[in-house]
Amino acid sequence: MESKKRKISIIGSTGSIGTQALEVLEKLEDKFEIIALAGGSNVELLKQQAEKFKPKYVCVGKNGAEKINISGAQVLYGPQGLDEICSNKENDIILVAVSGKIGLRPTLKAIENGIDIALANKETLVMAGDIVMKKAKDAGVKIVPVDSEHCAIHQCIKDINQVEKLIITASGGPFLHKTIDDMKNATVEETLKHPRWNMGRKITVDSATLMNKGLEVIEAHHLFNMDYDDIKVVVHPQSIVHSAIEYKDGSVIAQLGVPSMHIPIQYAISYPERFEGIKSKSFSFSEIARLDFEKPDFEKFPFLKLAYKAGKIGGSATVCLNAANEEAVFAFLRGEIKLFDIYEITSQVFNSHNVVKNPDIDEIFEIDEQIREQTKALINTKFC
Ligand SMILES: NC(=O)c1ccc[n+]([C@@H]2O[C@H](COP(=O)([O-])OP(=O)(O)OC[C@H]3O[C@@H](n4cnc5c(N)ncnc54)[C@H](OP(=O)(O)O)[C@@H]3O)[C@@H](O)[C@H]2O)c1
Repeated sequence: MESKKRKISIIGSTGSIGTQALEVLEKLEDKFEIIALAGGSNVELLKQQAEKFKPKYVCVGKNGAEKINISGAQVLYGPQGLDEICSNKENDIILVAVSGKIGLRPTLKAIENGIDIALANKETLVMAGDIVMKKAKDAGVKIVPVDSEHCAIHQCIKDINQVEKLIITASGGPFLHKTIDDMKNATVEETLKHPRWNMGRKITVDSATLMNKGLEVIEAHHLFNMDYDDIKVVVHPQSIVHSAIEYKDGSVIAQLGVPSMHIPIQYAISYPERFEGIKSKSFSFSEIARLDFEKPDFEKFPFLKLAYKAGKIGGSATVCLNAANEEAVFAFLRGEIKLFDIYEITSQVFNSHNVVKNPDIDEIFEIDEQIREQTKALINTKFC
C-alpha cells in the first residue's frame, strides 16, 4: 500500500539550502508533495523551479513590483505571500531556508498554525529563540534543525537530561591556518572560498570570521535548552564529525558523514523517518585519511567570544549582535570595509547597546531596525 505523501513548502527555494532541498525532494518524489515555493529576487530560477516541481503556490519576494505568470500555480508576493503559505494547514512541514531576519515571521506563522518546521534560518533563534521555542512547545510544533551541527546533535540525543555538554565542530573556514595579517588584507573573493561548504554569501563570510559558529552556539542554546558553559566548540577541519554530545557518564556520541547539506536537509524534512536519498552510501571510514581536532583561537576569531557574551547576557543582546554583524557583512561584500572591520563595527555597536531584558516580537523588530541604522551610520562616518 502506498503511504501518504508528506506535504511541504520551501521558504527560500532559490538559495543554497533551498536548491539542495529540491535536489533531495527530486529523489524522494514518492514521499513528498510540494505545496509552495518561495524565493526572493531570483524570479527566473523560481519560475524554472515552479515549472519543474509544479507547486500550487509560488511566492516572489519583491512586493508585487513585477507581476509574473506561472501556469498551474497561484502567484503570491512579499511578506503577505509568505504569511499565506505559512498559514496553509495543508502543509505538514515548512522548510524555512531564507537568510537573515526574514525567516522569523514565517516561522512564527507556521507555529501559530501548528505546522512543523525544518529550520535552516539560524537568525530566527538568535533573534527570538526564547519566544520561538516557547511558542513551538506550547503549540506542540516540532522544530527540527537543518544546520549540520544541530542536526547532528539532534540525532545524537536520546534524553537531554542525561547530557553533560554539547560539542559543536567548526571547519575553521578559509583562514584557519592563515595569519592575522592575511585576514586583515583578505579580499571578498578569498573570504568566499570556503574549503568545505558551498553556501550563501552571508553565511560564508560568517564562517570565515567564526561568527557563524558563535551564532550556532546561540542557536544550540535555544534548541537544546543548554547552558552556554556546557556548549563547547572544537575546530575540525575535515568536517566529517558534524558535532557530538557528551553524556554524564563520559560517553561521547558523534554524528559523522560526508560534508554535504543534502543529508541534514533530508533528515530534517523526513524526521522521524529515514529514507534512501541522494547521499546514501556516500561514506567510507577507510577513505578518510585522518580526523583532526584543535581548540579555537579566540584571539584570531574574537567573534566567538562576543557571541558567547551576547548569549549569556540574553534579551536584546543577541538581536543587536546579529543585526550589527549582518549590516557589516553586507558592507564588506559591497567592498566598503575590510574583513576585520566587521568585528570592529559589530563590537562597537554591541558595546553601546542598552539591553532590553525580555523583548516581545515587535520590540525585537524595532531594536533590529534601530541597530541596523546605527551600524550603517557608523560605517558611513568612520569606516568608508
Ligand atoms: N547554505 C548552507 O549550507 C547553510 C548551512 C546551515 C545553515 N544555513 C542557514 O540557512 C539560511 C539560508 O542560507 P543560504 O546559504 O541558503 O542563503 P542564500 O543562498 O543566500 O539563500 C537565501 C534565500 O532567501 C531568499 N530570500 C532573500 N530575501 C528574501 C525575501 N525578502 N523574501 C523571500 N525570500 C528571500 C533568497 O531568494 P533570492 O535568491 O531569490 O533572492 C534565497 O532563496 C541562513 O539562515 C543560513 O545561516 C545555511
